[in-house]
Amino acid sequence: MSSAALDTDCMTLVRWLLGEQRKHPSATGDLTQLMTAILAAVKAVSSAVRKAGIAKLYGIAGNTNVTGDEVKKLDVFANDLFVNMLRSSYTTSLMVSEENEHCIEVDTEKQGKYIVCFDPLDGSSNIDCLVSIGTIFSVYRKISDGNPTVRDALQPGRSIVAAGYALYGSATMVVLSVGNGVNGFMLDPAIGEFVLTERNIRIKPRGKTYSINEGYAKFWYDPVKDYIESKKYPKSGKPYGARYIGSMVADVHRTLMYGGIFAYPATKESPKGKLRLLYECNPMAYIMEQAGGLATTGTMPVLDVVPEAIHQRVPIFMGSREDVEEVIDFFKKYE
Ligand code: AHG
Ligand code: MN
Ligand code: MN
Ligand code: MN
Repeated sequence: MSSAALDTDCMTLVRWLLGEQRKHPSATGDLTQLMTAILAAVKAVSSAVRKAGIAKLYGIAGNTNVTGDEVKKLDVFANDLFVNMLRSSYTTSLMVSEENEHCIEVDTEKQGKYIVCFDPLDGSSNIDCLVSIGTIFSVYRKISDGNPTVRDALQPGRSIVAAGYALYGSATMVVLSVGNGVNGFMLDPAIGEFVLTERNIRIKPRGKTYSINEGYAKFWYDPVKDYIESKKYPKSGKPYGARYIGSMVADVHRTLMYGGIFAYPATKESPKGKLRLLYECNPMAYIMEQAGGLATTGTMPVLDVVPEAIHQRVPIFMGSREDVEEVIDFFKKYE
C-alpha cells in the first residue's frame, strides 16, 4: 500500500486546486472542473501506456498528422480521450490538438470560457521502446464574443491561465502551474489520485547538462554551433554533460528537476525548428518561467511570440536562467 493511501490528510491535486480557487473570490470553479477532466484523461492514458503492449496499442495507426508525424495508435487513443473529456466538461469552447488539422469547436450547449491547446501524446517515437512519454496542455480564456474562432487559439503564451504536463515515466506525474509557481503531483494508483509530492519547484540558476539532438549538428546555425562548442570545450571549468531522451516532456522534466538547458533549435533543414508553439513550446516555457527559469527562441521570449497558425513551429532554448542567458548572448553576437 503506498504511503499516500495511508495519509488521511494527503494533498490531492483537486484539493490543491480548490485551495487555489479560494484565493480568487471571483473564481467559479470552472478551472478545477477543467483540470478534473484533464486528469481523468491522463489517468486513462497512464493505464493504457502501462499495458500498451498487451492491449495491442503499439504500432502505427497507419496515417500521418498535419505536422507530418507518423501517428501511433496511442496518439489516437490519447487524443480521443482528451477531446471527449474536455468536450463534456462544460468548461471549454475550442481545442487545438497536435492530432487535429483544424481547431475543434465544442457544441454550443456545452461551451465554456476556456480554450485548451494540447499535445495528447508527446514523444510518440519512444512508445514502442518503452521510453518515457507525456502529455502537454495549456489553458487560455476565450477572448471572442459569440462562437469561438481561431483567434481564441492564437493568443501569445503570456495569456496562459494554466499549463502543465503529464509524464508517463517510472511513475505518472502531473506538473502544473496556475500562475503562482510550479507543483508536482504523483499519481498514486492505489487511490487513483494525484498527490502533491514536489511543492513549489524552482529550477537552479545554472545546471551542468545540455540537451539537444546532436545528430543535426551539420545543420546548426553558428550561434548554436558556438554555444554547444563552449559547453564541450569550456575556456575554464568542466565541460557540460549531454542528455537527450527525444521525448520533450522527459527532457524538460529532467531539466526542471536538475537544471541545465533543453534546446530544439532552428536548423538549415528545419528553419523554424520542430516543436510546435501552441501545445509544446508555450506550455513548457510557461512552466519554466514560473519555476524561475527562462525560455527563448534565441532572439525573443517564447511566451511573447504572437502565433499566426495553430501548428506553427518555433525554435526553443529553455531551462536554467544563466544557461539560457548565455545562449541569448551567442545569438546577440550574430545579430
Ligand atoms: P510528438 O511525439 O508529440 O510528435 O513530439 C515529438 C517531439 C518531442 O517530444 C521531442 O522533443 C522531439 O520530437 C524529438 O525530435 P527529434 O527526434 O528530431 O530529436
Ligand atoms: Mn507527433
Ligand atoms: Mn510533442
Ligand atoms: Mn504528440
